[in-house]
Amino acid sequence: MMPPRFEDLSFAYEALKQFRKYSFSVHHERFIFPFLCGSYFTYRKIDVKRVVSIAKSVSKDPSYLDIGCGYGDFLEKVRQYLPKAEGMEKNVEMFFKLGRYKPDYIKIGDAYNEIEKKYDVIFVGWMEPGVDYRDKIAEKTDIIITTFDKGGQCGINGGCEFEGFGYDKVASWVTPSWIDVNTELMNKYYSKISDDIIKSLSELRGAHNLWYVYSKPKYKEKIKEELRNCSVNENNEIERYEFEHVLDEVGYRYLEKIKIGNKIHLLWDIIYNE
Ligand SMILES: C[S@@+](CC[C@H](N)C(=O)[O-])C[C@H]1O[C@@H](n2cnc3c(N)ncnc32)[C@H](O)[C@@H]1O
Repeated sequence: MMPPRFEDLSFAYEALKQFRKYSFSVHHERFIFPFLCGSYFTYRKIDVKRVVSIAKSVSKDPSYLDIGCGYGDFLEKVRQYLPKAEGMEKNVEMFFKLGRYKPDYIKIGDAYNEIEKKYDVIFVGWMEPGVDYRDKIAEKTDIIITTFDKGGQCGINGGCEFEGFGYDKVASWVTPSWIDVNTELMNKYYSKISDDIIKSLSELRGAHNLWYVYSKPKYKEKIKEELRNCSVNENNEIERYEFEHVLDEVGYRYLEKIKIGNKIHLLWDIIYNE
């Protein structure tokens, strides 16, 4: 999916203002208007904690860059644990034309040629296909965490797979696709269709988001160890953001089964690579 153009954004902003007049919960808007109010990937606090623990496997006070961070919804959560974390976003208009505040930790720039220094970790969350700048990113970090929508944006030019750029794949996990969450919320709360139809529609879902961790070989085992430690305490109330109950409600619980092709996967289950 291409990022929205400015005309689309002001249109979306108007739609958001209308939506707020009849919305059932403040926590719905991040899934219905992901670019304006949330993120294109559907995350929980455990995703943030995993990303943080990966960064901490390199240094106590690691440097971190979120490329294409948008308004920085995920980045601001990461910054609660990694205060030095920065973002890079090339679309300056999305801040200034909509009158949104741009924090100093988000730099306006193009990841293709404007990453100025080396970072302990670079996070690439949901970029659009078309530009392959993997070699540029590979010069700037030893650890890459990337998320992308399966089926949609990755591919030859999608710039998502980093093997072959000196990295090993370390671990991966699956989260629900925001499109499925969005559809289920719309069906359940904002359209008049019967429960039976909602149920049969929910059986059709199958999109999903993949999270891949890549590192230079020397960090691989340490990252796996940190991730294993981090995942021990994941299934508890403290490790949750308020909006996560929306995911539970529409059937995307932690370790919920999801069918991908012919295989059953468990949402958020970490798969480690040898
Ligand atoms: C699909 S949006 C995802 C935004 C955010 N990461 C999220 O998950 O919601 C992709 C973002 O990447 C930005 N972007 C695309 N190419 C970029 C580049 N070369 N350098 C920096 N930002 C870029 C776009 O302007 C857009 O805001």
